[in-house]
Order: sequence, then C-alpha cells, then structure tokens
Amino acid sequence: MTLDIGVLISGRGTNLQSILDAIDAGTLDARVRLVLSNKASAAGLERAQKAGVATEVISHRGFDSREAFDAALVARLLEAGVEWVVLAGFMRVLTPRFLDAFANRVVNIHPALTPAFPGLDAQQQALDYGARVTGCTVHLVDAGVDSGPVLAQMAIPVLHNDTRESLGDRLLVEEHLLLVSTLQRIAQGSLRLSAGEPGSRPRVWLEEAPPEE
Ligand code: GRF
Repeated sequence: MTLDIGVLISGRGTNLQSILDAIDAGTLDARVRLVLSNKASAAGLERAQKAGVATEVISHRGFDSREAFDAALVARLLEAGVEWVVLAGFMRVLTPRFLDAFANRVVNIHPALTPAFPGLDAQQQALDYGARVTGCTVHLVDAGVDSGPVLAQMAIPVLHNDTRESLGDRLLVEEHLLLVSTLQRIAQGSLRLSAGEPGSRPRVWLEEAPPEE
C-alpha cells in the first residue's frame, strides 16, 4: 500500500527530509501530499518545495482556540488527500478535534525513549538526568505529550563527554532511520491496536503483510 501522508513541521525539517529522500530512493512507499507548518520561517518548507511537494503555513496565532486551529489543519489535510499524518518536529499539542479525524493514524518522532523525558529538549533532559542510555521513539499520538502507544524505539548510549550537540547529532541519525523504517512497516503491513484490559494502556503492533503471490 502507498501511504498518503501529510507532514506537520515547525522547524528545520531533517526528519521530513529523510522521508522525502527515502521516497525518492524507493525505500519508502509513500507520497507526501502536503507539508504544513505553523511557522512561516520553518526551514523544512523549503526542503518540501525543493522536492516538489505542496506546502502551506497555518499559524496557530490566527485562531482563538486550539480546536479551531486543529479544525483548519484537518480541513487542509483531508482536502489534500492525506490519510496518515507524521509529526516531524511539530511543536503544538493536538486536541481530540484533530486526533479523532485521523484516529490512530498520527505518528510522532520523539528524541527519547518514552515514557522518559517527554516534552521539550529531551536530549538535554537525558544529559541533565545523567542517563546512560537514551534513544528515540516513534509512537502513535494521543492527547498527551509524547505519551501515545509505542510503535518502535532505538536506544543509544550517552557518552561521558557528550554535549547537547554531540548527543543530539547521534540521535538524529537514528531518528531518521527509525521514522522511515517504521513508516515503511506501516505501508507494508497493518497496524493493530488493542484496547487491553480496562484502565491499561492500549497496545499497538505492526503485522507484516503476507508476501505477495
Ligand atoms: C527531532 O529531534 C524530533 O525528534 C523532535 O523534533 C526534532 C525535529 O527535528 N520531535 P527536525 O525538524 O526533523 O530536524
């Protein structure tokens, strides 16, 4: 299956770039239908334009509520034919208004092993905590901050002489690989979600599609 994806960004867009590169190389079976940014200054917009992908800026500042902003995003994404949404450095928390429109089809990349270090600057949080291992997580998005069901994680060591920059750079390499490989697994298989026991976290896993005849 070819995934029709919309990518939401707020900044430099290296994760977006890894998606565009993988599509170009034929290693990710997807089409980026639209890149949306809440910031006109996001460098990722230019990356999309260079790849011939449609872009749009919708500033959250133009709306009275989070729900109204989310409704505008949903309208544009649906119009563009988007079926799966990838948050790639998108710095806004989404409301159920958005999440219900793309139920269990919103994916985020976070630079820590959730549930550790949610929120801003997870790399610095890991350093400040003195963690010896950190990593990155691709997860489905729920209404919390970096809290949704985990699809895939990759761990890396924190070195004794790591700085925010050195750790962030090593993590970014893994982020790009993990995001693209997880999206490809979604394209190739089917995502299963179980509600689990009452009160427990939903579980999610990817089933490989049977090989084609
Ligand atoms: C990445 O570290 C990602 O994990 C986090 O925001 C950062 C975005 O970087 N959610 P980029 O814009 O993809 O370069």
